[in-house]
Amino acid sequence: MSDTIESLLDENREYIASDHFQENAQYQDESIYETASRDRLAFWEKKASDLAWFKKWNSVLEWSRPYAKWFDGGQLNASVNCLDVHLESRKNKTAIIWEGELGEVRSFTYESLAKQVNKLAYTMRQTFGVKKGDRVTLYMPMIPELAISVLACARIGAIHSVVFGGFSADSLRDRIEDSQSKLLITADGGYRRGEIVPLKDITDSALSKGCPSLESVLVVSHVGREARIHMTEGRDYDYHDSIADAPHVCEPEKMESEDTLFILYTSGTTGKPKGIKHSTGGYLTHAKYSTRAVFDLNDDDIYWCTADIGWITGHTYLVYGPLANGATVVMYEGSPDYPDKDRFWSIIDRHNVSIFYTAPTAIRAFMKWGDEFITKHDLSSLRLLGTVGEPINPEAWIWYHDVIGGGNCPVVDTWWQTETGGIMITNLPGLNVMKPGKAGLPLPGISAAVLDQNGQPVTHGGGLLSLTEPWPSMLRGVWGDDQRYIDTYWSKFNTYFAGDGATIDEDGYYMVLGRVDDVLNVAGHRIGTMEVESALVEHKSVAEAAVVGMPDDIKGQSILAFVILKTGQHDTPELHAELIQQVCDSIGPIAKPRAIVCASDLPKTRSGKIMRRILRNIAENKEVGDTTTLGNPAVVAEIVVSFKATFQAAL
Ligand code: PRX
Repeated sequence: MSDTIESLLDENREYIASDHFQENAQYQDESIYETASRDRLAFWEKKASDLAWFKKWNSVLEWSRPYAKWFDGGQLNASVNCLDVHLESRKNKTAIIWEGELGEVRSFTYESLAKQVNKLAYTMRQTFGVKKGDRVTLYMPMIPELAISVLACARIGAIHSVVFGGFSADSLRDRIEDSQSKLLITADGGYRRGEIVPLKDITDSALSKGCPSLESVLVVSHVGREARIHMTEGRDYDYHDSIADAPHVCEPEKMESEDTLFILYTSGTTGKPKGIKHSTGGYLTHAKYSTRAVFDLNDDDIYWCTADIGWITGHTYLVYGPLANGATVVMYEGSPDYPDKDRFWSIIDRHNVSIFYTAPTAIRAFMKWGDEFITKHDLSSLRLLGTVGEPINPEAWIWYHDVIGGGNCPVVDTWWQTETGGIMITNLPGLNVMKPGKAGLPLPGISAAVLDQNGQPVTHGGGLLSLTEPWPSMLRGVWGDDQRYIDTYWSKFNTYFAGDGATIDEDGYYMVLGRVDDVLNVAGHRIGTMEVESALVEHKSVAEAAVVGMPDDIKGQSILAFVILKTGQHDTPELHAELIQQVCDSIGPIAKPRAIVCASDLPKTRSGKIMRRILRNIAENKEVGDTTTLGNPAVVAEIVVSFKATFQAAL
């Protein structure tokens, strides 16, 4: 493999879509960049006109930094735009092809999906009294009922808050309480690598210690654990029984463009996750436009985004964007290596997937697993590949392009965030030359810059990534915490601060390097170091903890935790296991530390501030650097020894 990679890293090789792709692409004319920047608002207004509105807007944008109103005065409904608008021309077109981990397949046409959404929406409204503006938490496996629940909330104007099914009871409770949800939809369980994740039991545990706002719980029977789950009378109801007799029609709520469509929690630099708020009109405008433009979506494509709906990618590019475009979407419940490491390729082969969107961590794992899992499947249906969530190294990009794409598929490396709602920086596949490892140009309609510490644009080289003009799908705030919105995104620069480092080259191509704040990106999942530290200090043996990222060949980063034990506590393998378990219980398995390093102290300034830079250098196996400002420089040598010993033991 390494020979091939070396020859592929040929600098003279140019990556551009085939003539055939370019000639048939949705966007073929580079004047779109010029048109969009000449009159940005006219550009966005045209994109908004691609949606169905009950009432047209009065103004395209009202901007009073940092608050935006897009298409104010307009009224629409997101579920109408994803379903009803297709019921004439695409009634019998497949909307969702769902495949369970056990191999079963369920397909929904636009008509049958609309029916299910309407029934649930009606039931939520009539039986459970959910009204416009109420919050509904969805804690579910990747089953069709999750997409249906999202759209049903949108139909009645309830604000959905999807909590990824890998989060723990504590994380779920925090999110229900913060959003003050009235209804929760979950399942008896979900499959993950052949094992059952007992979602209802986890829900019970979350609800046992609070959540007074929550009135009802709907439970989808999915893994056949009905007999083993506990249903609390007067609170818990079977999902399918509840909707069985509901009518197929539920009048959609007329939503103001600026009404909140959903909240999605994401990690920040404090211990408490932020509920990022998204609007209806602006969000959907960008979701529809960017899906078509970036993935070059045509009516006959079979489109598969592997992200879980629990993350923003699943919201925008599995549900809202593709369905607003009337696409056929593949949705898969489980993991890529179950029952074997060829599961994804088998899905692409069997369902004739033509557009495939996944994460660099997955791509690096596929590379490691070897080509034999790939070559036994026919991947010739593929015509476009995408990546998202973390920087992709050129080797992985080229492998993806050549081995998965057979050298024939453009690769779009898409940079964006929960906060941006949709893709901000990437190439248009039929137009731009691709540069492995670089996301590319801001999408038409989006303005970006790399800024230096003083907020001055850098024309060549590195700095901090900023979005310099408001855009329709921008976050509208942090749920219940206006100040945090200002502090996090609008206090560093005059324009939106993304929290990422980036470079820009002579062609204006952006390369996003990763977070510059105390947020880690582990396998494409955002995890705040403070969240993990708070979890660790909850353990009775831990006095202090500091968490940093450690380079990881597959996941990009993994979590390394330095801890100071309380007096009398001993550094034992059992304690390490307990601490790791503590993090899993408190946050979820996605935040599981790779190793714990115990030390008698942490490197601190004289005023007691932990110098993470030194810990990061240790974790990255670099020189520790300047320790003269430390109040306790002697501790560094001890930590290095402990790190080396622990690390050898951990591997
Ligand atoms: O650091 C960037 C990284 O993921 C962060 C956003 O994470 P989240 O809100 O969970 O959304 C992930 C899916 C959109 C960013 O701040 N990131 C995302 N895409 C890329 C990326 N880093 C480099 N290249 C990308 N294409």
